[in-house]
Amino acid sequence: KRRGENIEVAEPRNKLPGPAPSMPTDPALYSGSFPFYRRPSELGCFSLDAQRQYHGDAQALRYYSPPPTNGQGPNFDLRDGYPDRYQPRDEEIREGLDHLLRWLLDHRGQLEGGPGWLAGAIVTWRGHLTKLLTTPYERQEGWQLAASRFQGTLYLSEVETPAARAQRLARPPLLRELMYMGYKFEQYMCADKPGSSPDPSGEVNTNVAFCSVLRSRLGNHPLLFSGEVDCIDPQAPSTQPPTCYVELKTSKEMHSPGQWRSFYRHKLLKWWAQSFLLGIPNVVAGFRNPEGFICSLKTFPTMEMFEYVRNDRDGWNPSVCMNFCAAFLSFAQNTVVQDDPRLVYLFSWEPGSPVTVSKHQDAPYAFLPTWYVEAVTQ
Ligand code: A3P
Ligand code: MG
Ligand code: MG
Repeated sequence: KRRGENIEVAEPRNKLPGPAPSMPTDPALYSGSFPFYRRPSELGCFSLDAQRQYHGDAQALRYYSPPPTNGQGPNFDLRDGYPDRYQPRDEEIREGLDHLLRWLLDHRGQLEGGPGWLAGAIVTWRGHLTKLLTTPYERQEGWQLAASRFQGTLYLSEVETPAARAQRLARPPLLRELMYMGYKFEQYMCADKPGSSPDPSGEVNTNVAFCSVLRSRLGNHPLLFSGEVDCIDPQAPSTQPPTCYVELKTSKEMHSPGQWRSFYRHKLLKWWAQSFLLGIPNVVAGFRNPEGFICSLKTFPTMEMFEYVRNDRDGWNPSVCMNFCAAFLSFAQNTVVQDDPRLVYLFSWEPGSPVTVSKHQDAPYAFLPTWYVEAVTQ
């Protein structure tokens, strides 16, 4: 036996054994029939207050209160209050899945689906799933998703890419104001109590959030996820969440057929993905003019959005979005083999490339907090 024959070559710590796994994202590969997606049912909710503190109730839920339809259209000044009545959330604070895990800790004993349901489920934010749904069509922004398996459950938590961080830190003043305007629109359209009117004189505080927690299933992947909900329509035909929820959006006023086409191809895809996942039936859009005023509103039923691009060769297809998401979840389930809350499999994607994976221990990628791991480990 020659010397050194049994010495293993040290692999970089983040290298996975075997050939590097990867996953393509080309739309053509995912154009089968629409996969099974269980009608999302609400398991509960929580609220975050003006100081970003968690409350296990619906105190931050607001009520849809559109302006009276009396001939004239709306005239909402979205720049009013900027920047003096703006309290933006601190985006440097990385919350990961913490708020959702807090909810889960308080409710895991009462989960439906039978014993072991959670052990077979995927836990994440709705926003992360939205990014997966739109990936086959995304040409601008990549993403990174950290994945850990713990007591069977697969947890997925987004990591801000270096490019996204650089963009955020260098966000131009006009973009900052545009972000404010999206929240200001919510203030013009929502009341704090059912039956009362919006009060746009107050502050816009983006720490405040109402989050719904839902159960669904995509293909054979049971899902438990949470998403922020803009408001509830007290006059909706069904009072059962999530079908009574309304999503609010702003967009640039459009004047040419080309502008509408581009809106259908890009914005409606994102709006559809976000609201479809959570089971929100309607998105109410406010269109703003160059001066920042909302002068018209239009309701887009989520289930009708695809019709605008069905016959468009450069449109999007809901089946592709859902099939890709299902394939990614299978890829993640098969890749994240070790059950260890301190281990992270980092899935990375950039437009034009396949999804790749690397493996990491502890900081900076581990995201399941000690308070959660210890409470669940008993
Ligand atoms: P818009 O309605 O104008 O998009 P949401 O629509 O998901 O309820 O988000 C509310 C507002 O938050 C958005 O209003 C926008 O102003 C801001 N916002 C959300 N996601 C954003 C992002 N990725 N980049 C910039 N602003 C964002
Ligand atoms: Mg919102
Ligand atoms: Mg909204």
